[in-house]
Amino acid sequence: MITKPKGTKDILGLEAKKWKYVERVVEEVMDKYNYNYIRTPLFESTELFHRGVGETSDIVTKETYDFTDRGERRMTLRPEGTAGVVRSYLENKMYGDATQPIKLYYNGTMYRYERPQAGRERELTQFGCELIGSDDPATDAEVISLALQIYHILGLKEVVVHINTLGDAASRDNYRNALLAYFEPHLKELCDDCKNRYNKNPLRILDCKVDGNSELFQNAPKTIDYLNKESKERFDKVCEYLDILEVPYEIDSSIVRGLDYYNHVVFEFEATTTSGKMAIGGGGRYNGLIEQLEGPATPAIGFAAGIDRLLLALEHKGIELPVKEELDLYLLYVNEEEKKYALYLTQELRMNGFKVEMENMGRSLKAQFKQADRLNAKFTIVLNSEELNEDEVTVKCTKTKEETKVQLDALIYYLDENLAEEDFDCCCEGECHHHND
Ligand code: HAM
Repeated sequence: MITKPKGTKDILGLEAKKWKYVERVVEEVMDKYNYNYIRTPLFESTELFHRGVGETSDIVTKETYDFTDRGERRMTLRPEGTAGVVRSYLENKMYGDATQPIKLYYNGTMYRYERPQAGRERELTQFGCELIGSDDPATDAEVISLALQIYHILGLKEVVVHINTLGDAASRDNYRNALLAYFEPHLKELCDDCKNRYNKNPLRILDCKVDGNSELFQNAPKTIDYLNKESKERFDKVCEYLDILEVPYEIDSSIVRGLDYYNHVVFEFEATTTSGKMAIGGGGRYNGLIEQLEGPATPAIGFAAGIDRLLLALEHKGIELPVKEELDLYLLYVNEEEKKYALYLTQELRMNGFKVEMENMGRSLKAQFKQADRLNAKFTIVLNSEELNEDEVTVKCTKTKEETKVQLDALIYYLDENLAEEDFDCCCEGECHHHND
């Protein structure tokens, strides 16, 4: 039997409903913050990621799915969303739009050739947003609080926001030199990857998964001590705005991020999942990227979050999303005449917004009731020729077992009234979209 590739998942059943629920919350929050949905290709030319994400990032050096297409073009399955969005921003000349900044959000699969484990997939799903065209520190605060709001609505109240700043280009240079000087006497002690990073991008040494917790690393220079005045003031402003938004954050100098395009504020959201502590999202400002991709110098900031990890964090906390397999109504019948009416009525009710199912397996009436039970139908109707001749049906409420004769022309009204009374169990203590409707 052919099985799915390593690091991929089939998402089905109740799990698929959870994904849809998360995606719906993401859409609603993004909409409130006035972000527009964008879909960019799953593959892009390889060069985009080399120049965008960075030649020295692990993602580009070790993790991309590259292929040559039948026209001999080098292509890469996108490992993340930002590079594609920025490419689209430039190709569609969005910098010329009257409405600025440009605010875009996405939700889709990304591909990274990583060593798979819980929360680390080769095909992963990220939602994220990019705010392009503004350098206002208030937008940094907005993006961080937006992400946090999504986590909160889903029930994750204890996400820790780690923030840091890399400063502007001059501050980064200062810091880079400090790191070179600091690690030079210890070059021999570094892992092979870090020896490479020392020459190409010393900031990335701090991301080392081998020695990251050693004393040498703990005592390494901190970005925050090498900021010039403007960069320091900018970071203070971001913190001040985060305070206004009541975002609890921790300044954490170890956050340098694994992608090369960042400057100024960088952040990661950490949560405990069923597989331990993990970054469930991250992002930062990337004021140089658009110019690097041959566009006009344009400031930008964004974040992305992994849905796989978010669901692991919910599972760890025992948070149940309000997803259920249930129906408003199941229609049962015995003879052909009743079946014809069931067919008609099912369509009529579906067109009026109800979730309705009818019998399609030729079951006995008893087995039909069992099926209605399995599908968690809130109401059932056994269509009955005699009643239908009188333009009536008997509606049975599953919960109360109460049976009510209803005139056919009043059925929609009856269902509307009675379904509205049904409670729904919710995860969110009044914050989710159900409650806000
Ligand atoms: P990133 O930190 O590489 O940033 O990924 C963001 C999030 O995607 C991570 O925090 C994690 O939750 C999830 N993620 C990453 N790799 C995997 C994986 N292999 N399996 C499951 N989940 C994963 C970015 O991708 C940037 N584009 C974020 C950004 C947007 N920066 C500015 N704008």
